[in-house]
Amino acid sequence: MALEELLLSSGHSVVIAKSGEDALRCVLKQDFAAILMDANMPGLDGFTATRAIRERERSRTTPIIFLTGAFEDLSSMFRGYEAGAVDYMVKPIVPEVLKFKISVFVELYNKNVALTREIAERRRAEERVRKSEENLRALAVRLQSVREEEWTRIAREIHDELGQALTGLKMDLTWVAKKLPQDQKAATAKTRSMFDLIDGTIQSVRKIATRLRPEVLDELGLAPAIEWQAKEFQKRSGIRCMVSPPSDGLTLDRERSTAVFRIFQELLTNIARHANATRVDIAMRVDSGALVLEVEDNGRGIDESAMSSPKSLGLLGMRERVLPFGGKVEITGVKDQGTRARVSIPLGLK
Ligand SMILES: Nc1ncnc2c1ncn2[C@@H]1O[C@H](COP(=O)(O)OP(=O)(O)O)[C@@H](O)[C@H]1O
Ligand SMILES: [Mg+2]
Repeated sequence: MALEELLLSSGHSVVIAKSGEDALRCVLKQDFAAILMDANMPGLDGFTATRAIRERERSRTTPIIFLTGAFEDLSSMFRGYEAGAVDYMVKPIVPEVLKFKISVFVELYNKNVALTREIAERRRAEERVRKSEENLRALAVRLQSVREEEWTRIAREIHDELGQALTGLKMDLTWVAKKLPQDQKAATAKTRSMFDLIDGTIQSVRKIATRLRPEVLDELGLAPAIEWQAKEFQKRSGIRCMVSPPSDGLTLDRERSTAVFRIFQELLTNIARHANATRVDIAMRVDSGALVLEVEDNGRGIDESAMSSPKSLGLLGMRERVLPFGGKVEITGVKDQGTRARVSIPLGLK
């Protein structure tokens, strides 16, 4: 009773157990900052009760302080420690000492509770971030494929409808030109320039459609598309492109082909825009179950900061493109010697 008084007066809440069995019931019901255990109790003694408390999940680490009479010998102290006590006090208890010990344990307990809560909160926050990252990624993949489908559709419509209309126009113009009397020199000249205009427009339509989605990619596959794109690039930029012939058995599904092809286009655009190169070497092969595309230029060399900069959206886009397939884009640069990009994308089981 004196102990209870003492602890209550220090502002702690106290639960009294009248026996070892009673103590076991208490620790099942709630968590305690510390347990003061009398070595001698009716029924279950303090040692057995301590051992049983240690065996319960909930009270496995609850500090237990043994209380015992001065007449008991040292061996009971050791038995107490053996059973799982963390401290030991001999009666008569010095109130200040007990108060101090208990307040240390209570403080520890409170810190522990706060820490546990913080950890749980942090876990939840991490989980939220992970989830939203996952969602963003899924959204990016979806947008990418929607855009690609859209481009393919527009390319086809431009090619077919505008192409057909222009061909029809050309046929009609041919008819008109034939009907024109010989002496209508000005009108004949006009039809000739109209022919040129129509031919030029047909060329433009083809170019625009191809830029949106090259037919060669869908009809012949990735390797010929890469070769074609390299040739186009060389024509437009004047930078020499060397394509090593790819290894055999290079068949990729549409999604993977598109991803690699778009990355290749972005790499070439970067070379034209930033590298100041005179030569590009391109190689494609299958290496341990993955398609590997290597593009190397002899320009000024990409610098470290550009690679990790959040402003490098082109590089970020490349990485995002291969992510759904578990692929990788590695780019390294050596100053004034060039930049090397290595794109690998697992072929996947078919
Ligand atoms: N082949 C290259 N040679 C040198 N620098 C490069 C090369 N490719 C990219 N870089 C550098 O990396 C930066 C990021 O590229 P990117 O993400 O595609 O963005 P952007 O092309 O819009 O500037 C570029 O601004 C450029 O400084
Ligand atoms: Mg770029």
